[in-house]
Amino acid sequence: MRGDTPAVGTLRLLTPGPGRSALALAHPNIALVKYWGKRDERLVLPWTSSLSMTLDVFPTTTWVRLDPSLTRDRVTLNGAPATDEALHRVTAFLELVREIAGRDRRAVVDTSNTVATGAGLASSASGFAALAVAATAAYGLRLHPTALSRLARRGSGSASRSVFGGFAVWHAGRDTDAAEEADLASYAEPVPAADLDPALVVAVVDSGAKAVSSREAMRRTVATSPLFRPWAAASRGDLDTMRAALQRGDLAAVGDIAERNALGMHAAMLAARPAVRYLSPDTIAVLDCVLQLRRDGVAAYSTMDAGPNVKVLCHRADAEQVAEAVRVAAPQATVFVAGPGPGARLLSEGS
Ligand code: PMV
Repeated sequence: MRGDTPAVGTLRLLTPGPGRSALALAHPNIALVKYWGKRDERLVLPWTSSLSMTLDVFPTTTWVRLDPSLTRDRVTLNGAPATDEALHRVTAFLELVREIAGRDRRAVVDTSNTVATGAGLASSASGFAALAVAATAAYGLRLHPTALSRLARRGSGSASRSVFGGFAVWHAGRDTDAAEEADLASYAEPVPAADLDPALVVAVVDSGAKAVSSREAMRRTVATSPLFRPWAAASRGDLDTMRAALQRGDLAAVGDIAERNALGMHAAMLAARPAVRYLSPDTIAVLDCVLQLRRDGVAAYSTMDAGPNVKVLCHRADAEQVAEAVRVAAPQATVFVAGPGPGARLLSEGS
């Protein structure tokens, strides 16, 4: 069918039909240079650019079906009806898609994560990347990956990067008062990297939902932490050195930059008022274990997001040794080994 051919660089409407549906899959990503802090809350524009690796574990699958009989969207998250903030975020995102598509039909959304939601394991990244792919297809839109990344960003900043596989950079874009120009300049794209043979050993020390949402924690850090601006300034330099390290395939340099960038982000949160502290005693036990691994000659580097869980970057060949050391250091942790994964994709669509 001609209308089903993806149009590169354009945004095209397919023939609208009743009850179109689409199923999409996306993986989470872990930032090696972090995104922390929005300069525009409505458009989800970050203070700094960030860089991540998309994983090959913990996918989210999302099914969207347009339903002419509905007067409001119906959202199911991991088998249960979504409520409050989660429902509001999905509905607001669908509004955006409807606005672009010029359609007002409500939708049924059914989404499942294979990882704990809201525990600093990037479920919002895979969640909104999968929703962006499924919802645009269901509403008859064909978006270029750049436009899809911009759209996913509006659901959750980190989702802009999960549109792509492997390493991706999310550009903060230009600081301008012109909203449209600022929106257009902030998207993710793949980053060239030599073969690093990387693995991320994920230590889930606590899969409970975080006490402070990343949204609120970012707000507080930007508004009150005297360490936020110095971290943001250092982060801009981290991005440049990280890109160079990726290009020459220098895992030790990539890991070193990632570790200091993450520790700096957490230091900025700790200096917020009131302090935001995601790190737990188990987190520290894993950080100590990683330091010991390095003393023993293993290239292993830590990074932590908005939660107590630790992701350890190492060579794939060392991943089992690192995982075993982490299990000994934090016996109650569940440990997974992840590699670079694919970008978000459409699994099927129908009417
Ligand atoms: O998932 P979001 O878009 O609310 O942002 C979370 C940000 C971190 O995971 C802490 C860092 C990052 O760049 O992914």
